[in-house]
Amino acid sequence: MDTIWSRYVQGCMTLYSSRRLRFHDRFREKYAQLFDLGDRPLRILEIGCGPGALAGALHRWYPGAEITGLDRDREFIRFAREHEPGVLFREGDASALPFPAEQFDVTISNTVQEHVEPSAFFGEQQRVLKPGGVCLVLSSRRGLHAAAPCLEWDEAEQRFWEKASELDDSMEKYGVCRYPMTEAELPAAMEKYGFRDVRTGYVTAALTPDDPSVSPELAREMILSGKYNDLEALDSAVLTLGERISPEDAEWMRQRIEEKYALRLEQYARGEKQWDTSVSVIMVLRGVK
Ligand SMILES: C[S@@+](CC[C@H](N)C(=O)[O-])C[C@H]1O[C@@H](n2cnc3c(N)ncnc32)[C@H](O)[C@@H]1O
Repeated sequence: MDTIWSRYVQGCMTLYSSRRLRFHDRFREKYAQLFDLGDRPLRILEIGCGPGALAGALHRWYPGAEITGLDRDREFIRFAREHEPGVLFREGDASALPFPAEQFDVTISNTVQEHVEPSAFFGEQQRVLKPGGVCLVLSSRRGLHAAAPCLEWDEAEQRFWEKASELDDSMEKYGVCRYPMTEAELPAAMEKYGFRDVRTGYVTAALTPDDPSVSPELAREMILSGKYNDLEALDSAVLTLGERISPEDAEWMRQRIEEKYALRLEQYARGEKQWDTSVSVIMVLRGVK
């Protein structure tokens, strides 16, 4: 349909790596308890699946299920097909789902509701769910983030990103976060659109590379997730702002990012603990058709 999100808002690796961590198997029990889907084979539709990390987790967690991921961004769908072969992916619009009525046992989404007009978002899920089907809406709430000193911005970097965000109007232009809802508004909206037995719950997902229970591979993934985010944010800024960022400034920033994360990986390899941590709080809203 388009590639706006992956080019201007969040890139493939930013979303894929952060969500692989957010939906890592170490948090599986917490999600499974709130999803409460039983263990029968299911037809699951993920709406706004992005590059496919949650769909991949669902495929691992519910091995008998048929999982379909849908997103309107063509590049995400291409990436997801390449990285998550056990899942069906297709392009499509959440406000006009390309499926007949009463097809799915479960619909699920992560950080999508705030971008789609609510009557279409909930109404379309009502339509495609079977009677008794479960709608799960996951959203990210205020978490906490303590950066390693070597990854903090110095003054020059701060100036660079401040200038980039002042000039960047892509969020507004593309309708990002046009329909935000509080923790209290979300369950009320779900009831308003006809779901019953509405419940809410919260998962905290702490990512701390220096935690002794974290394997070296996972610690590396946690550290590099920040680097993918910074590099793709830079790519989007260059694309959006064009000549308002000079090629020299962009190259300087790219090198800074590479150097800083190389240093953080070296510190990790040398066992110099930094105790940097990132804690996501994920709200899980559940309702029944
Ligand atoms: C914040 S991203 C989250 C992506 C994915 N759920 C994840 O957690 O990695 C929001 C996603 O919603 C998708 N999206 C926004 N509006 C949409 C719509 N009307 N139909 C389909 N996808 C939509 C975007 O393309 C993007 O992939």
